[in-house]
Amino acid sequence: MKHDDSQTVVGIDQLGLYLPHYVLSLDKLAEARGVPPEKISIGLGAQKMAVAPPWEDTVTLGASAAERALARGSVAPDEIGLLLVATETAVDHAKPVSIFLHELLGLPSNCRTFELKHACYSGTAGVMIAADWVRSGAARGRKALIVATDIARYDLHSSAEFTQGAGAVALVVSEQPRLLELDPVSGVFASNVYDFWRPLDRREALVDGKFSLDCYLAALDGAVADYRAGLNGSGGTSLTERYAAMLYHTPFPKMAYKAHLRLFERDRAVAGTDGTNGAHRSAADGNGDLAAAAERSYAELVEPSLTLARLVGNTYTASLYLCLAWIAEQRARELAGREVGLFSYGSGCCAEFFAGRFTGSCATAARSIGAAELLASRREIDVEQYEAFTCEGSAGGTPGREEAGAAYLAGIRDHKRLYERTSWSS
Ligand code: HMG
Repeated sequence: MKHDDSQTVVGIDQLGLYLPHYVLSLDKLAEARGVPPEKISIGLGAQKMAVAPPWEDTVTLGASAAERALARGSVAPDEIGLLLVATETAVDHAKPVSIFLHELLGLPSNCRTFELKHACYSGTAGVMIAADWVRSGAARGRKALIVATDIARYDLHSSAEFTQGAGAVALVVSEQPRLLELDPVSGVFASNVYDFWRPLDRREALVDGKFSLDCYLAALDGAVADYRAGLNGSGGTSLTERYAAMLYHTPFPKMAYKAHLRLFERDRAVAGTDGTNGAHRSAADGNGDLAAAAERSYAELVEPSLTLARLVGNTYTASLYLCLAWIAEQRARELAGREVGLFSYGSGCCAEFFAGRFTGSCATAARSIGAAELLASRREIDVEQYEAFTCEGSAGGTPGREEAGAAYLAGIRDHKRLYERTSWSS
């Protein structure tokens, strides 16, 4: 990635992650639903899903992720001049999740704050808005805090039930970032489709499952074509050879596999090295060498980033950034100074393909993420407990130590949500 000398280097300075304390094995859920467990573990590539207890919602998950980003990254609340919360599972139609976080985190009053929505894409929309805000000079040296927070819920007993999950990621975006420098070039694709939606009176999303997979892949094609157009003369570059890792929005791990195979095929078609002189040919259509190379590329560039997606489930707006959190924590030394490609997809739909370069000293920022430690501290529940939590929803409660992060939902009175800070640090 080349930066014009006059251009300010902007990117992700710190990353905070938070996961609910409870987790359900998808083998157990498959057994309870009469589904072969391999359909989930192999067919979808998923193993577990995070389950939010009644005292957690998108406010508490987001506040806990943000508190970790600020506290562990030594970022003072008064350094934040822009707070954007990306979610598709907000708690109110008018009052944004961001204003609850503004208070819980003790952010200054001269901080612009609002909520963003475009299904799973809005976390990336927030990152792009924040990066432009910093580059424009409007930030006046301050930093932006972007929080992607969601609880993915589908109907019990539906096929999509296995792709639920919950969690949040907070990203501090600033000049001279300590973790990942963002390349200003990106490619976008938008199109009005009904692949996944959630009418205002429903808590659980509706989805045209198979169609949503096609929409995702079509959006990847569109965003990559726009990205190549922005590369000024190097649009024919092989993206799968350029990047040290490829991170995808991951509703379930097999989706990232399908996406990478598509990117690989298109790459080879652009380069004309697949024997088709640029015409589309599938890696699965009998060209054995191409298919084997695509599998190797997936194993090297994508698979290492999928652990959280496999063990947490779909976290909607946060999903892509869970992949970033995991490779940053697990592979920071090896990735220092190297470029990664990122693909963000939000149903409905809008998608963006962009890139970033890990800083030379990214290992220090990555060490504070604590993803493995969060996974290890979770408690397994059974299907009965999961169904009880799901039926109760986010109604409030009083958690014990370790059952919540920085804050919890104490209750709802007169239609007002009452949050409390915990006395322990997350
Ligand atoms: P389904 O009907 O349960 O599953 O729906 P299926 O019949 O399509 O099977 C799934 C895979 O398992 C297939 O593999 C089967 O062959 C395989 P594939 O052909 O795709 O490679 N399979 C088996 N494998 C091993 N052993 C077996 C076995 N049986 C079958 N015994 C679906 C799956 C994903 C559609 C469903 O779970 C769903 O609707 N999920 C929610 C929608 C979703 O996640 N869409 C993803 C793209 S859209 C997106 O990412 C946006 C989103 O995050 C929302 C947002 O933006 O806000 C969802």
